[in-house]
Amino acid sequence: MSVQKIGVIGVGQMGAGIVQVAALAGFDVLACDQTPDHNNKAKAGIEKQLGKLVEKGKLSEENKNAALSRIKWSCSLADFSDLDLIIEAITENVQAKNELFKSLDAQCSPKTILATNTSSISVTGLAAVTKRPEKVIGLHFFNPVPVMKLLEIIRAVQTDDATYKTCIEVGAKLGKEVVTAKDSAAFIVNRTLLPFLNEAVFTLYEGVGSAEDIDKAVKLGLNHPMGPLELCDFVGLDTLLAVLDVMYKEFGDSKYRACPLLRKYVEAGWYGRKAGRGFYKYQ
Ligand code: 3HC
Repeated sequence: MSVQKIGVIGVGQMGAGIVQVAALAGFDVLACDQTPDHNNKAKAGIEKQLGKLVEKGKLSEENKNAALSRIKWSCSLADFSDLDLIIEAITENVQAKNELFKSLDAQCSPKTILATNTSSISVTGLAAVTKRPEKVIGLHFFNPVPVMKLLEIIRAVQTDDATYKTCIEVGAKLGKEVVTAKDSAAFIVNRTLLPFLNEAVFTLYEGVGSAEDIDKAVKLGLNHPMGPLELCDFVGLDTLLAVLDVMYKEFGDSKYRACPLLRKYVEAGWYGRKAGRGFYKYQ
Protein backbone atom coordinates (compact mmCIF):
# COMPACT_ATOMS: atom_id res chain seq x y z
CA MET A 1 0.00 0.00 0.00
CA SER A 2 1.26 3.45 -0.89
CA VAL A 3 0.62 6.25 1.60
CA GLN A 4 -0.17 9.75 0.30
CA LYS A 5 -2.65 11.17 2.82
CA ILE A 6 -1.63 11.32 6.49
CA GLY A 7 -3.78 12.48 9.38
CA VAL A 8 -2.24 13.73 12.62
CA ILE A 9 -4.41 13.98 15.72
CA GLY A 10 -3.11 16.12 18.55
CA VAL A 11 -0.87 18.98 17.44
CA GLY A 12 1.09 19.77 20.59
CA GLN A 13 4.88 19.82 20.29
CA MET A 14 5.13 16.24 18.97
CA GLY A 15 2.09 16.32 16.67
CA ALA A 16 3.02 19.69 15.18
CA GLY A 17 6.52 18.38 14.49
CA ILE A 18 5.08 15.32 12.74
CA VAL A 19 2.78 17.54 10.63
CA GLN A 20 5.75 19.70 9.61
CA VAL A 21 7.99 16.79 8.66
CA ALA A 22 5.21 14.98 6.77
CA ALA A 23 4.23 18.07 4.75
CA LEU A 24 7.88 18.79 3.89
CA ALA A 25 8.26 15.18 2.73
CA GLY A 26 5.43 15.68 0.23
CA PHE A 27 2.52 14.01 2.03
CA ASP A 28 -0.94 15.60 2.12
CA VAL A 29 -1.61 16.18 5.80
CA LEU A 30 -4.82 16.65 7.73
CA ALA A 31 -4.05 18.01 11.20
CA CYS A 32 -6.53 18.02 14.04
CA ASP A 33 -6.80 19.18 17.61
CA GLN A 34 -9.67 19.89 19.97
CA THR A 35 -10.13 23.59 19.23
CA PRO A 36 -9.26 26.09 16.47
CA ASP A 37 -6.99 27.81 19.03
CA HIS A 38 -4.88 24.64 19.38
CA ASN A 39 -4.70 24.33 15.59
CA ASN A 40 -3.81 27.99 15.11
CA LYS A 41 -0.99 27.77 17.64
CA ALA A 42 0.47 24.74 15.86
CA LYS A 43 0.02 26.38 12.46
CA ALA A 44 1.85 29.52 13.59
CA GLY A 45 4.68 27.40 15.04
CA ILE A 46 5.11 25.45 11.80
CA GLU A 47 5.09 28.64 9.72
CA LYS A 48 7.76 30.08 12.02
CA GLN A 49 9.94 26.94 11.81
CA LEU A 50 9.70 26.79 8.02
CA GLY A 51 10.43 30.53 7.84
CA LYS A 52 13.64 29.91 9.81
CA LEU A 53 14.66 27.19 7.35
CA VAL A 54 14.13 29.66 4.48
CA GLU A 55 16.22 32.32 6.30
CA LYS A 56 19.04 29.79 6.71
CA GLY A 57 18.86 28.91 3.01
CA LYS A 58 17.83 25.32 3.77
CA LEU A 59 14.40 25.60 2.14
CA SER A 60 13.16 27.70 -0.78
CA GLU A 61 10.21 30.06 -0.34
CA GLU A 62 8.42 28.07 -3.03
CA ASN A 63 8.89 24.73 -1.22
CA LYS A 64 7.84 26.33 2.06
CA ASN A 65 4.59 27.53 0.52
CA ALA A 66 4.04 24.16 -1.17
CA ALA A 67 4.50 22.35 2.18
CA LEU A 68 2.12 24.75 3.96
CA SER A 69 -0.50 24.31 1.23
CA ARG A 70 -0.39 20.54 1.74
CA ILE A 71 -1.56 20.95 5.37
CA LYS A 72 -5.31 21.14 6.05
CA TRP A 73 -6.71 21.80 9.52
CA SER A 74 -9.80 20.38 11.21
CA CYS A 75 -11.37 19.93 14.63
CA SER A 76 -13.60 17.03 13.61
CA LEU A 77 -12.81 13.33 13.33
CA ALA A 78 -15.59 13.12 10.73
CA ASP A 79 -13.06 14.62 8.27
CA PHE A 80 -10.72 11.66 8.79
CA SER A 81 -12.75 9.08 6.89
CA ASP A 82 -10.53 8.77 3.83
CA LEU A 83 -6.86 8.78 4.82
CA ASP A 84 -4.11 6.20 4.29
CA LEU A 85 -2.44 6.61 7.68
CA ILE A 86 -3.46 8.39 10.87
CA ILE A 87 -0.88 9.17 13.56
CA GLU A 88 -2.28 9.85 17.01
CA ALA A 89 -0.18 12.21 19.14
CA ILE A 90 -2.56 13.16 21.95
CA THR A 91 -1.79 13.18 25.65
CA GLU A 92 -0.14 10.10 27.20
CA ASN A 93 -3.32 8.70 28.75
CA VAL A 94 -4.52 5.19 28.05
CA GLN A 95 -8.26 5.94 28.42
CA ALA A 96 -8.07 8.93 26.07
CA LYS A 97 -6.13 6.91 23.50
CA ASN A 98 -8.52 3.95 23.75
CA GLU A 99 -11.51 6.21 23.14
CA LEU A 100 -9.84 7.92 20.21
CA PHE A 101 -8.90 4.61 18.60
CA LYS A 102 -12.48 3.32 19.00
CA SER A 103 -13.86 6.49 17.33
CA LEU A 104 -11.31 6.40 14.54
CA ASP A 105 -11.98 2.73 13.91
CA ALA A 106 -15.70 3.45 13.60
CA GLN A 107 -15.28 6.46 11.30
CA CYS A 108 -12.30 5.68 9.08
CA SER A 109 -12.06 3.71 5.88
CA PRO A 110 -11.14 0.05 6.54
CA LYS A 111 -7.89 0.61 4.56
CA THR A 112 -6.61 3.27 7.01
CA ILE A 113 -3.61 2.36 9.17
CA LEU A 114 -3.98 3.67 12.73
CA ALA A 115 -0.67 4.57 14.37
CA THR A 116 0.10 5.83 17.85
CA ASN A 117 3.01 8.05 18.85
CA THR A 118 2.72 6.79 22.41
CA SER A 119 5.86 6.97 24.54
CA SER A 120 5.04 3.90 26.60
CA ILE A 121 1.49 2.57 26.36
CA SER A 122 0.77 -0.92 25.00
CA VAL A 123 0.19 -0.78 21.24
CA THR A 124 -1.30 -4.27 21.48
CA GLY A 125 -3.91 -2.96 23.94
CA LEU A 126 -4.81 -0.08 21.61
CA ALA A 127 -5.06 -2.47 18.65
CA ALA A 128 -7.43 -4.65 20.66
CA VAL A 129 -10.04 -1.88 21.05
CA THR A 130 -10.40 -1.70 17.25
CA LYS A 131 -11.89 -4.06 14.67
CA ARG A 132 -8.73 -3.70 12.56
CA PRO A 133 -5.99 -4.76 15.03
CA GLU A 134 -3.73 -5.91 12.18
CA LYS A 135 -3.65 -2.29 10.91
CA VAL A 136 -2.58 -0.75 14.23
CA ILE A 137 1.09 0.10 14.90
CA GLY A 138 3.34 2.33 17.01
CA LEU A 139 5.28 5.14 15.29
CA HIS A 140 7.32 6.79 18.02
CA PHE A 141 8.96 10.09 17.07
CA PHE A 142 11.43 12.12 19.16
CA ASN A 143 11.37 15.74 20.19
CA PRO A 144 12.10 17.99 18.32
CA VAL A 145 10.66 15.87 15.51
CA PRO A 146 12.19 17.89 12.64
CA VAL A 147 15.68 17.47 14.14
CA MET A 148 15.73 14.00 15.69
CA LYS A 149 16.63 11.34 13.15
CA LEU A 150 15.05 8.33 14.82
CA LEU A 151 11.66 6.69 14.32
CA GLU A 152 10.90 3.72 16.55
CA ILE A 153 8.39 1.36 14.98
CA ILE A 154 6.49 -0.83 17.41
CA ARG A 155 4.58 -3.84 16.16
CA ALA A 156 1.58 -4.82 18.22
CA VAL A 157 1.30 -8.59 18.45
CA GLN A 158 -1.60 -8.27 15.95
CA THR A 159 0.16 -5.95 13.40
CA ASP A 160 0.42 -7.61 9.98
CA ASP A 161 3.46 -7.58 7.70
CA ALA A 162 1.83 -5.28 5.12
CA THR A 163 1.17 -2.55 7.73
CA TYR A 164 4.70 -2.87 9.11
CA LYS A 165 6.27 -2.70 5.63
CA THR A 166 4.17 0.34 4.68
CA CYS A 167 5.25 2.17 7.84
CA ILE A 168 8.92 1.42 7.22
CA GLU A 169 8.48 3.02 3.78
CA VAL A 170 6.74 6.05 5.33
CA GLY A 171 9.60 6.40 7.86
CA ALA A 172 12.16 6.42 5.03
CA LYS A 173 10.15 8.99 3.07
CA LEU A 174 10.03 11.17 6.21
CA GLY A 175 13.83 11.04 6.24
CA LYS A 176 14.01 9.06 9.47
CA GLU A 177 16.25 6.16 10.49
CA VAL A 178 13.99 3.35 11.61
CA VAL A 179 14.44 0.84 14.41
CA THR A 180 11.91 -1.81 15.33
CA ALA A 181 11.05 -2.36 18.98
CA LYS A 182 9.01 -5.06 20.64
CA ASP A 183 5.77 -3.88 22.22
CA SER A 184 7.21 -3.71 25.72
CA ALA A 185 6.46 -0.71 27.97
CA ALA A 186 8.46 2.37 26.86
CA PHE A 187 10.08 0.40 24.00
CA ILE A 188 13.84 0.99 23.48
CA VAL A 189 14.69 4.67 23.88
CA ASN A 190 12.37 5.60 26.74
CA ARG A 191 13.18 2.31 28.53
CA THR A 192 16.78 3.49 28.72
CA LEU A 193 16.15 7.24 29.03
CA LEU A 194 13.50 7.37 31.75
CA PRO A 195 15.48 5.67 34.56
CA PHE A 196 18.33 8.10 33.79
CA LEU A 197 16.11 11.20 33.90
CA ASN A 198 14.31 9.94 37.01
CA GLU A 199 17.68 9.37 38.72
CA ALA A 200 18.68 12.94 37.87
CA VAL A 201 15.49 14.15 39.62
CA PHE A 202 16.36 11.99 42.67
CA THR A 203 19.84 13.54 42.61
CA LEU A 204 18.23 16.97 42.86
CA TYR A 205 15.68 15.77 45.45
CA GLU A 206 18.43 14.41 47.69
CA GLY A 207 20.47 17.61 47.36
CA VAL A 208 23.43 15.91 45.70
CA GLY A 209 23.73 18.96 43.46
CA SER A 210 21.80 22.01 42.29
CA ALA A 211 19.75 21.76 39.09
CA GLU A 212 22.37 23.85 37.31
CA ASP A 213 25.26 21.68 38.52
CA ILE A 214 23.48 18.41 37.71
CA ASP A 215 22.87 19.63 34.16
CA LYS A 216 26.36 21.08 33.78
CA ALA A 217 27.95 17.87 35.11
CA VAL A 218 26.08 15.60 32.71
CA LYS A 219 26.50 17.91 29.71
CA LEU A 220 30.25 18.24 30.19
CA GLY A 221 30.95 14.87 31.80
CA LEU A 222 28.97 12.78 29.34
CA ASN A 223 28.94 15.09 26.33
CA HIS A 224 25.13 15.22 26.20
CA PRO A 225 23.51 18.07 24.23
CA MET A 226 21.24 18.92 27.17
CA GLY A 227 21.41 18.28 30.88
CA PRO A 228 18.85 15.75 32.18
CA LEU A 229 16.72 18.29 34.06
CA GLU A 230 16.74 20.60 31.05
CA LEU A 231 15.65 17.60 28.96
CA CYS A 232 12.85 16.81 31.44
CA ASP A 233 11.56 20.37 31.01
CA PHE A 234 11.92 20.06 27.24
CA VAL A 235 9.96 16.79 26.95
CA GLY A 236 7.35 17.69 29.60
CA LEU A 237 7.28 16.48 33.20
CA ASP A 238 3.68 15.27 32.83
CA THR A 239 4.68 13.01 29.93
CA LEU A 240 7.70 11.66 31.81
CA LEU A 241 5.64 10.89 34.90
CA ALA A 242 3.01 9.11 32.78
CA VAL A 243 5.73 6.99 31.13
CA LEU A 244 7.35 6.10 34.46
CA ASP A 245 3.97 5.12 35.91
CA VAL A 246 3.33 2.82 32.93
CA MET A 247 6.78 1.22 33.38
CA TYR A 248 6.30 0.80 37.12
CA LYS A 249 2.90 -0.81 36.62
CA GLU A 250 4.04 -3.02 33.75
CA PHE A 251 7.30 -4.33 35.22
CA GLY A 252 6.42 -4.11 38.93
CA ASP A 253 10.03 -3.16 39.63
CA SER A 254 10.87 -0.42 42.16
CA LYS A 255 13.65 0.87 39.92
CA TYR A 256 10.91 2.59 37.87
CA ARG A 257 9.32 4.35 40.87
CA ALA A 258 8.91 8.02 39.94
CA CYS A 259 10.80 10.44 42.18
CA PRO A 260 8.34 12.17 44.55
CA LEU A 261 9.73 15.54 43.42
CA LEU A 262 8.72 14.81 39.83
CA ARG A 263 5.20 13.89 40.97
CA LYS A 264 4.97 17.03 43.12
CA TYR A 265 6.00 19.30 40.26
CA VAL A 266 3.39 17.70 38.00
CA GLU A 267 0.76 18.21 40.73
CA ALA A 268 1.79 21.87 40.81
CA GLY A 269 1.30 22.15 37.04
CA TRP A 270 5.04 22.72 36.57
CA TYR A 271 5.21 20.66 33.38
CA GLY A 272 8.38 22.25 32.03
CA ARG A 273 8.92 24.62 29.13
CA LYS A 274 5.39 24.42 27.79
CA ALA A 275 4.02 25.56 31.19
CA GLY A 276 6.64 28.27 31.72
CA ARG A 277 8.03 26.43 34.73
CA GLY A 278 9.57 23.06 35.50
CA PHE A 279 13.01 22.60 37.02
CA TYR A 280 13.71 26.02 35.51
CA LYS A 281 11.58 29.09 34.82
CA TYR A 282 10.92 30.22 31.25
CA GLN A 283 9.69 33.51 29.80
N1 3HC B 1 12.20 22.45 15.88
C1 3HC B 1 12.93 22.46 14.74
N2 3HC B 1 14.26 22.65 14.72
C2 3HC B 1 14.87 22.87 15.90
C3 3HC B 1 14.17 22.90 17.12
C4 3HC B 1 12.77 22.68 17.07
N3 3HC B 1 12.02 22.66 18.19
N4 3HC B 1 15.06 23.14 18.11
C5 3HC B 1 16.25 23.26 17.53
N5 3HC B 1 16.15 23.09 16.21
C6 3HC B 1 17.25 23.13 15.22
C7 3HC B 1 17.87 24.50 15.17
O1 3HC B 1 17.19 25.34 14.27
C8 3HC B 1 19.28 24.17 14.70
O2 3HC B 1 19.28 23.98 13.30
P1 3HC B 1 20.57 24.33 12.39
O3 3HC B 1 21.67 23.43 12.84
O4 3HC B 1 20.10 24.06 11.03
O5 3HC B 1 20.85 25.78 12.65
C9 3HC B 1 19.57 22.81 15.34
O6 3HC B 1 18.28 22.25 15.65
C10 3HC B 1 20.38 22.96 16.60
O7 3HC B 1 19.65 23.84 17.47
P2 3HC B 1 20.32 24.95 18.39
O8 3HC B 1 21.63 25.37 17.77
O9 3HC B 1 19.32 26.00 18.66
O10 3HC B 1 20.54 24.25 19.78
P3 3HC B 1 21.27 22.92 20.13
O11 3HC B 1 22.48 22.69 19.31
O12 3HC B 1 21.39 22.97 21.61
O13 3HC B 1 20.22 21.78 19.75
C11 3HC B 1 18.54 20.29 20.36
C12 3HC B 1 18.94 21.74 20.23
C13 3HC B 1 18.52 19.65 18.97
C14 3HC B 1 17.14 20.26 20.96
C15 3HC B 1 19.60 19.57 21.27
O14 3HC B 1 19.73 20.25 22.48
C16 3HC B 1 19.24 18.13 21.55
O15 3HC B 1 19.46 17.25 20.73
N6 3HC B 1 18.69 17.88 22.76
C17 3HC B 1 18.27 16.53 23.17
C18 3HC B 1 16.93 16.22 22.57
C19 3HC B 1 16.46 14.85 22.94
O16 3HC B 1 17.08 14.08 23.64
N7 3HC B 1 15.26 14.50 22.43
C20 3HC B 1 14.62 13.23 22.73
C21 3HC B 1 13.71 13.40 23.89
S1 3HC B 1 12.89 11.90 24.31
C22 3HC B 1 11.53 11.89 23.34
O17 3HC B 1 11.25 12.78 22.60
C23 3HC B 1 10.66 10.68 23.45
C24 3HC B 1 9.37 10.97 24.16
O18 3HC B 1 8.53 9.82 24.03
C25 3HC B 1 9.53 11.31 25.62
